[in-house]
Amino acid sequence: MRCIVTFALLLLLPLSGQDKAGTEKTPDKPQPNPTNLKVLKVTTRPEVIQIMHTFTAGLGTQCNYCHVQGNYASDENPKKETARRMIHMVQEINGKFPDGKMLVTCYTCHRGETQPKTAPEPKPPA
Ligand code: HEC
Ligand code: HEC
Repeated sequence: MRCIVTFALLLLLPLSGQDKAGTEKTPDKPQPNPTNLKVLKVTTRPEVIQIMHTFTAGLGTQCNYCHVQGNYASDENPKKETARRMIHMVQEINGKFPDGKMLVTCYTCHRGETQPKTAPEPKPPA
């Protein structure tokens, strides 16, 4: 039995390296992997999208706050470059903690706003 499985895997290998669309049902059009990542240390589109949702939640924005409509790889929107500097900063901050966890995120400072507060809201008069 083990032999047959191994054999089947070997047969599939040359195919799966290229494109597995033919061997598995494809739920949707296959999404292309990112082509213009400079600071994020992931490779696949689903990984990138997961991170992007932490950005929209962290800053309380939509995707097009940083991206030109319809072209995520484009660097035309200057907010995207600002965000790259922020990602780099957050990577540095987390690197200073000894346990290797993501303790500081966009939300830590931004709290759902594009401009983080530097002081608490004034208290209403008592
Ligand atoms: C706060 C700014 C910001 C927001 C909001 C944001 N993105 Fe991004 N996005 C970036 C940055 C910066 C990169 C590039 C990261 C890098 O260089 O490593 C990127 C890269 C991407 C890429 C990879 C493009 C490529 O081919 O290289 C995709 C896809 C993407 N974003 C989709 C989204 C989607 C979908 C949303 C909304 C859910 C979103 N982004 C919201 C900043 C943002
Ligand atoms: C240590 C606190 C801190 C963290 C963490 C942080 N930011 Fe920021 N961010 C700031 C501050 C402060 C500003 C305002 C800077 C200014 O006005 O010049 C800012 C501004 C921005 C802006 C520009 C907003 C504008 O109004 O133009 C973007 C985009 C942004 N941050 C994205 C991110 C993303 C994405 C993350 C997570 C990867 C992140 N930030 C994490 C502090 C932080």
